[in-house]
Amino acid sequence: MHEKAIENIKYLGSVTSTNDIAKKAGDAEAVFVADEQTAGKGSKGRAWQSSLNEGLYMSFLIRPTIEAAQIPGITLMVAVVVCNAIESVCGVSCTIKWPNDVLVNGKKVCGILTESVFGAQGVERVVCGIGINTNQKFGVELSSKADSLGIRTKRQKMVLCNRVVTGFFEGYDMYQQKGLTAFMTEFKRRSAIKGTVTLTAPNQEYKGTLIGFDDTGAIVIDINGELHRFIAGEISLRGENGYV
Ligand code: BTN
Repeated sequence: MHEKAIENIKYLGSVTSTNDIAKKAGDAEAVFVADEQTAGKGSKGRAWQSSLNEGLYMSFLIRPTIEAAQIPGITLMVAVVVCNAIESVCGVSCTIKWPNDVLVNGKKVCGILTESVFGAQGVERVVCGIGINTNQKFGVELSSKADSLGIRTKRQKMVLCNRVVTGFFEGYDMYQQKGLTAFMTEFKRRSAIKGTVTLTAPNQEYKGTLIGFDDTGAIVIDINGELHRFIAGEISLRGENGYV
């Protein structure tokens, strides 16, 4: 286990982004948790709403001992870990919208942003940021697709934080030993997307029928009778009905 990292949880007040703090931190594995982010980052260059005390904003700094190709899979592993943590603390059911959204009742309550820092020897460190909407209020535009868990006490938020931290390191140990295969059965069971899907790449859109996910975490869809696989990255996924 990563006792040192678990002892190395830094609780911060207002920061730009816990991912940015973690990327610039020292070499030791650590966890950064903030009350507020003034420049919270989402995937694909989007902003992540991070109002004071309305969300759990945390980043894990790890020194990977795995192959670079395995790093994107950390996001899928963490999605499973977060589902279990939220369910145990809040008593709700969570699903996953591939690759990095955790949903409750079809609305996003958590996003995951995994970033790598490269040095001369390749990937030097990995920062996995998790944003959970504990009590975030959304405007008209976002409220059709995002929601909060309704966690209002600091105590319950800390319980959730601790479950995520423990789950993350247990999951990461398992990931190092067994790879993503160990998580894919649960990932598939939790998938929010079924049927016809649209994948949007930077310059192209693909429409097909979801076949599933392979053990590398790629999504597999049938387009006009041919199977195509796409890895997470610049791809966005949409199902038939609104956000999901
Ligand atoms: C997404 O777009 O779904 C990913 C959202 C990730 C948000 C978290 S909040 C903690 C960490 N710091 C950031 O700036 N982003 C991640």
